[in-house]
Amino acid sequence: MATRDYDYIVLGSGIAGLYFSLKVADLGKVAIITKKHRAESNTNYAQGGIAAVTSKEDSVEKHIEDTCIAGAGLCHRDVVKKILTEGPARIQDLVELGMEFSEREISETGEREWDLGKEGGHSKRRILHAKDVTGREIERALLHAIANHPNIDIFENHFAIDLITSHRLGIDEPNRCHGIYVLDRSNRQVEVFRSNAITIGTGGCGKVYLYTTNPDIATGDGVAMAYRAGVPILNMEFVQFHPTCLYHPKAKTFLISEAVRGEGGIIKSQDGRPFMDECHPLKSLAPRDIVARAIDREMKREGTDYVHLDITHKPAPFIMDRFPNIYQTCLQYGIDITKQPIPVVPAAHYQCGGIKTTPSGETGLRGLYAIGEVACTGLHGANRLASNSLLEALVVAYHAAEQLKSVPLEAPSRELPPWEDGDVTDPDELVVVSHNWDEIRRLMWDYVGIVRTKKRLERAQKRIVNLQTEIQDYYLNFQVTTDLLELRNLVTVADLIIKAAKTREESRGLHFNIDFPDLDAVWGNRDTLLERDRSPSSQPINP
Ligand code: SIN
Repeated sequence: MATRDYDYIVLGSGIAGLYFSLKVADLGKVAIITKKHRAESNTNYAQGGIAAVTSKEDSVEKHIEDTCIAGAGLCHRDVVKKILTEGPARIQDLVELGMEFSEREISETGEREWDLGKEGGHSKRRILHAKDVTGREIERALLHAIANHPNIDIFENHFAIDLITSHRLGIDEPNRCHGIYVLDRSNRQVEVFRSNAITIGTGGCGKVYLYTTNPDIATGDGVAMAYRAGVPILNMEFVQFHPTCLYHPKAKTFLISEAVRGEGGIIKSQDGRPFMDECHPLKSLAPRDIVARAIDREMKREGTDYVHLDITHKPAPFIMDRFPNIYQTCLQYGIDITKQPIPVVPAAHYQCGGIKTTPSGETGLRGLYAIGEVACTGLHGANRLASNSLLEALVVAYHAAEQLKSVPLEAPSRELPPWEDGDVTDPDELVVVSHNWDEIRRLMWDYVGIVRTKKRLERAQKRIVNLQTEIQDYYLNFQVTTDLLELRNLVTVADLIIKAAKTREESRGLHFNIDFPDLDAVWGNRDTLLERDRSPSSQPINP
């Protein structure tokens, strides 16, 4: 099969991949590789919005402060400042590309302005949103902007397997990216894509946990692939659990946006006690790590499966207009949120760590960039402030593109070997894949969840080592399928989360370990670094 040559290869079709592609498409040919339909991305499911300072009552300094407080001492302040300062300019770009944010009328003048929402940890209203379907509107606008672009080819149903690096090829040169192996899911053939610039924007790894707000695609593909290629990975212990995922036997992964609490929704026990009042001065709008842990504690103490989120005290027309998607979806499940409290539970939502990058998306491997949830720039620290992630994706994508503009285009020329597949396809053995998927997700939820202990982490690690051996053995012998490739990535990411969690012997932000319940000054200024074939270590956040 012929090798496909591109100036830029982009993995993923969420906000990071699409916006970056648009920015570089004037320079050269772009291939976007996405494992399902082009609109199926984490971005598409974002409800809350994008945090940026656009109001006179707000300031970038306040936004920086809120971000650093949520990040529990681990944010890289220089990165925070850079990303948040550029927020308004990138928002303007999005609007020029066709994004429509919700507006409201100013009663005194009759003029219209953006309707700014509020979420946990924000001291001001600063969340730009499109009702409660912000991500869907972003995808619509960006996909419309790239449709029929002469320099952009989109490969849907194509699964990126592994990077082709100098080391993999056995070439004696400083390691760099030459291309990538990609599975075409429609014919099960593995193709070779060649490029000197590969950008990963594949999102996070929510599916590594049994309960998650993420769609099925969130299997940690980018982090796992980069780790296998020897790229440094940071802070994987910081998995954000969203406090309010709908609890219903038939609902899978439906998020109830934090914006509901921003508009007055109150977290209550099943008997109506607003227990967050005792936990934090910001009550139900405390930072996410605090709310998720308080709910977890409350459920364990009361022996219940869920708590309530109550917004019934707000006028019904307001609720239906501000949260049309949440209202309609809950109604489908028999819950009228204008009259009844919503049953909710915490669920895995966002990966704050990821591939170590600069604010321009550069990774530790030449020719490889990473943007969005898959990357760790230092913005989020130990706990992401709500709605900062879409903004980070925009700013970093912009700078990665600017950086690439300064690099002269050079056609990829090195011969790359075709993929070698295992040739066994034994349907009896497929049970191994489904069994191991379930085992990893249950294990991570039970032993590496919201509250951790030393013993549980050790137990989890022992199990993961066995699973890794079994999955690697299977991978080497059998023809690759999407399920097998996702499983291989999931087990790698699970291993990274466990290793990072074991390494950090303190409790900070999203990482809470009963055996080390306090912040430790030694860790205050250090990220957790994982590199293949090296023991986990830590490094100062501004080395
Ligand atoms: C939400 O709408 O609650 C999610 C926003 C976010 O995760 O930033």
